[in-house]
Amino acid sequence: MPLIELKNIEFTYRGAANQSLSNITFSVEPGEFIGIIGPTGAGKSTLCWVITGVIPQIIKGKLKGTSFVKGMSSRKTPVATISQIIGLVQQDAEAQLLMTDIEKEIVFPLENLGLPPEEINRRLNYVLDLVNLRSECQRHPFYLSGGQKQRVAVATALAMEPEILILDEATSELDPIGAEEVHNLAGLLKKKLKTVLMVEHNIDELAKVADRIIVMDKGRILMDAPVRQVLSQVDFLQSLGIYPPQVTQTAFALQNKGVNFKQMPITVEEGMQAITRVNHNV
Ligand SMILES: Nc1ncnc2c1ncn2[C@@H]1O[C@H](COP(=O)(O)OP(=O)(O)O)[C@@H](O)[C@H]1O
Ligand SMILES: [Mg+2]
Repeated sequence: MPLIELKNIEFTYRGAANQSLSNITFSVEPGEFIGIIGPTGAGKSTLCWVITGVIPQIIKGKLKGTSFVKGMSSRKTPVATISQIIGLVQQDAEAQLLMTDIEKEIVFPLENLGLPPEEINRRLNYVLDLVNLRSECQRHPFYLSGGQKQRVAVATALAMEPEILILDEATSELDPIGAEEVHNLAGLLKKKLKTVLMVEHNIDELAKVADRIIVMDKGRILMDAPVRQVLSQVDFLQSLGIYPPQVTQTAFALQNKGVNFKQMPITVEEGMQAITRVNHNV
């Protein structure tokens, strides 16, 4: 059974003239790492809210179609129940932090679940190590960098031990170092075979971790395919204002000048291998 299954989803925000999602159908299998890309306003965040039940339970509008999380309708299953299966980390790290120190931030939702203290402690220690914030755990979020705040948000989500993690532009407000910290964390989650949906504008980073990419524009899914197949469509992506990895753009330009690539490189490592092959004429 897929973990997430959406069929013919259409959504119009209350009072809005146009649909923000049209004809959205896709599913997510356990262990998949899926990148979601598309220009601003494409409907990526709206999609995340439909999956998690925030739409229509908290944000209202006209919703058609079906959305299931582990076989439960995300229309009807309380958002609090779905949040135990899906952790959602959003763009604004600051707004997601409620408590006076990191430890309380992570522990509070676990206490609300009524978990025994030993279990809370186990999870706290596990996620603090995972996001590498043990030494900071007594600090007030005020003193944390943007990257550290986002890592706290990820840790808080992971402490619920969700089966799925959704990162919705979790790096877009971070400085380069903060973004790198969160990207490294995404790489770590991939190694742990966690099911992840990552809305991300940094395509170079996405190319390193995603198995599959969904391209959205104007509320629709334009493409849903394995990562290389999507990122090789350089002209198509650029027409949407999306820039494929620099190494892919370079290879594409070289290909137009007659250099042959067996497959389009999407990471620097693949690019280096391809150049070595060209150099040796193999
Ligand atoms: N609360 C809202 N009320 C009305 N329209 C909204 C609301 N939030 C988003 N929209 C509209 O829905 C469309 C999709 O937005 P969004 O899902 O935020 O896109 P993305 O995350 O891809 O940038 C946009 O046209 C946006 O203006
Ligand atoms: Mg968004």
